[in-house]
Amino acid sequence: MKKSHFTNFIFLSFFFILFTDTLYAKESAKKMIKHKPFANKECASCHVDKKGKTAELKDDMPGLCYSCHKSYDNNKFIHGPVGAGGCMLCHDPHESENPKLLVYKTINELCTTCHSEKGEMLASVDNIHPPVKDSCINCHDPHAENNKFQLRGDRTQELCLMCHIDKKERITNSKNKHGAIEMGDKCLNCHDPHATGRPKMLKAETPKDLCLQCHSNEWNREEDGKVLMNMGQHLEDNPDWHGPILWGDCAACHNPHGSDNYRMLKMPFPEKSTAKFLPEGYVCFKCHEPQKIEDKFTTEFTNFRKGERNLHFIHVKDKSITCRACHDYHGSKNLPHHLREKSNFGSANFSLRFLEKPTGGSCNPICHERRHYDRETPNNQ
Ligand code: HEC
Ligand code: HEC
Ligand code: HEC
Ligand code: HEC
Ligand code: HEC
Ligand code: HEC
Ligand code: HEC
Ligand code: HEC
Ligand code: HEC
Ligand code: HEC
Ligand code: HEC
Repeated sequence: MKKSHFTNFIFLSFFFILFTDTLYAKESAKKMIKHKPFANKECASCHVDKKGKTAELKDDMPGLCYSCHKSYDNNKFIHGPVGAGGCMLCHDPHESENPKLLVYKTINELCTTCHSEKGEMLASVDNIHPPVKDSCINCHDPHAENNKFQLRGDRTQELCLMCHIDKKERITNSKNKHGAIEMGDKCLNCHDPHATGRPKMLKAETPKDLCLQCHSNEWNREEDGKVLMNMGQHLEDNPDWHGPILWGDCAACHNPHGSDNYRMLKMPFPEKSTAKFLPEGYVCFKCHEPQKIEDKFTTEFTNFRKGERNLHFIHVKDKSITCRACHDYHGSKNLPHHLREKSNFGSANFSLRFLEKPTGGSCNPICHERRHYDRETPNNQ
């Protein structure tokens, strides 16, 4: 070998070493977080060989880890890989660039490498519950817990109320509580904890479908001896459904979590067939204009009028008759405008016998003989 070649070789080797060293330094700069005993070079606390020259370990897993860390064995529910001693499926025993020596960058990446169906959910389903998107361990302990599925609280309600404090307040303090909140799977009767693709993680296509899972029965209530009607049957028998029910939204009027109002309505509604009229006393005015009742004369706000004389005003405001005497806001049949065929007034049961005309109508309840109204020619009978 010529001298120049030799010096070149030395020179290049020097750079080669320098180069690989920098690479190595970069690699280890990324791996910043070191396990304490590894950083302290206490290889012997885990390895048979004092300097850790062979991988052979002093003890089986997870016993090795439990020689320094608290054991998870005392919990009622232990996560599969933890029970099996698979600490290394999630942690690196020496060092890692991720917090807690984890082998993946994010918790959700870690969990979904094994729970691939949840990975598919995160990637493809709409309306994911925000804490699920954020991190699975908001609710699940990665190791063990005393609740099923290693949850941080009982799955049916306690867990939910840890974060949803407003709901805790509502279900505890509402005057009219909903049976659905405390029976069976409680919150999970209606919601999925992860996602269903639908808004609010509802377990059925619409709130109506959810409601009718239970309200296609009558419910006898022990506390007040009342029987709640079978709404499923009622809607089947009365196929002309009121707008919001047609959209499938029973929650437009009812609060599924309970409320202080009669029948858990989102706004009040009079309990009796007569009540002093107050616009804020009717859930109906969430959507309809109160002027249809309040304006003594109108040509705009209602068709229930004799010329300009508002008959809604006369019945509801003047005589304090509530909407239920004439309308069924769930569903109706045969009569238009969601008018009831049969009405209850106090203890009386009677028929409205409503007849419609192009410019008005007439009815003949027990309250009065048949009376007519005509919007165009008010004095016509
Ligand atoms: C907290 C316990 C612990 C400490 C401390 C520890 N190791 Fe390890 N080491 C392990 C475990 C667990 C494995 C994986 C063994 C297996 O896969 O069978 C391992 C694997 C190894 C391996 C095999 C190759 C590899 O990286 O997977 C070597 C080499 C090694 N350790 C060297 C060391 C050295 C050197 C030290 C001290 C600087 C050390 N270890 C400190 C737990 C430890
Ligand atoms: C010789 C004692 C010892 C053994 C054996 C040991 N650890 Fe540790 N581990 C420690 C100490 C000390 C800490 C630092 C605790 C602290 O900072 O509060 C630690 C911290 C950790 C952390 C948290 C790291 C962080 O960034 O906060 C994890 C995860 C961990 N150990 C996992 C393991 C696993 C898995 C095993 C079994 C392979 C194991 N340890 C075995 C002593 C040990
Ligand atoms: C399924 C994955 C997984 C397995 C298996 C697993 N861990 Fe963990 N571990 C985690 C996660 C995730 C964290 C971070 C928790 C956090 O940030 O609150 C963690 C944190 C830790 C910590 C830090 C202290 C703490 O609780 O935050 C220790 C110590 C630890 N694990 C030890 C172990 C031991 C010992 C085993 C085996 C018996 C084990 N882990 C098995 C996922 C796992
Ligand atoms: C290394 C693979 C692995 C990783 C990573 C992993 N799991 Fe698991 N998980 C399992 C196995 C195995 C079971 C037990 C399955 C069984 O019993 O049917 C399990 C069970 C569960 C269960 C109970 C399911 C049931 O039907 O009983 C939950 C909840 C769970 N894991 C959540 C998580 C979370 C959250 C993470 C991330 C912190 C995670 N897992 C990471 C493998 C893993
Ligand atoms: C908001 C709390 C919460 C979060 C965050 C959460 N879960 Fe769950 N998880 C639950 C509840 C509650 C159950 C029980 C469901 C039931 O009983 O119907 C459950 C059940 C499970 C189960 C067992 C039953 C099933 O659905 O297969 C697995 C596996 C699971 N979760 C994995 C995960 C994974 C992976 C993540 C993160 C992507 C995660 N969870 C995030 C609350 C949560
Ligand atoms: C770790 C905290 C946490 C837990 C536990 C939790 N949630 Fe949530 N949840 C949130 C946050 C944050 C949001 C988004 C803000 C909001 O709407 O309040 C949310 C939103 C929701 C929403 C509205 C979603 C939408 O589409 O607008 C529903 C419904 C819900 N949670 C139900 C539940 C149920 C049921 C449980 C119990 C299985 C539960 N949550 C447990 C934090 C949590
Ligand atoms: C899991 C079964 C279940 C589901 C689902 C359910 N309910 Fe109920 N609901 C009940 C039971 C049981 C009662 C009677 C006992 C009670 O009120 O405590 C009740 C009572 C009611 C009452 C009368 C409350 C009162 O104050 O008098 C209304 C109104 C009601 N539900 C509406 C709904 C609506 C709207 C939905 C859909 C968003 C729905 N329910 C879904 C079980 C359910
Ligand atoms: C009877 C079915 C039912 C039950 C049981 C139920 N929810 Fe809901 N929840 C709904 C419906 C329907 C919505 C959509 C509400 C709306 O449009 O007003 C909703 C909405 C929510 C929201 C979104 C914010 C809001 O109020 O619109 C949260 C958070 C929530 N529910 C939490 C819970 C928690 C926590 C529980 C258990 C304590 C629970 N739900 C029990 C039916 C239910
Ligand atoms: C437009 C508002 C509105 C909508 C939408 C609505 N309700 Fe009602 N609901 C009421 C009012 C007002 C009452 C109280 C009426 C009464 O006592 O006559 C009531 C009463 C009830 C009752 C108690 C009946 C009884 O026996 O006293 C149940 C059960 C009920 N609704 C279920 C439902 C279900 C299920 C849906 C969806 C299919 C729904 N509601 C949609 C306004 C509504
Ligand atoms: C969430 C909005 C909403 C609420 C609240 C509401 N309605 Fe309606 N209402 C509608 C819509 C939309 C229509 C038109 C579709 C239809 O005819 O059902 C309608 C139509 C009607 C009609 C028939 C109109 C016609 O000429 O055919 C009557 C009567 C009626 N509502 C009465 C009531 C009563 C009584 C209440 C209170 C218990 C009420 N509504 C609460 C949305 C609502
Ligand atoms: C005495 C019976 C009666 C009472 C009480 C009554 N309505 Fe009506 N309502 C009618 C009649 C009849 C029509 C049909 C008018 C027409 O189109 O000829 C009607 C029509 C309606 C309409 C359709 C639009 C319109 O005004 O023409 C709505 C909405 C309505 N009523 C809401 C209500 C609400 C809300 C209440 C309670 C605050 C109420 N009604 C009380 C008899 C009544």
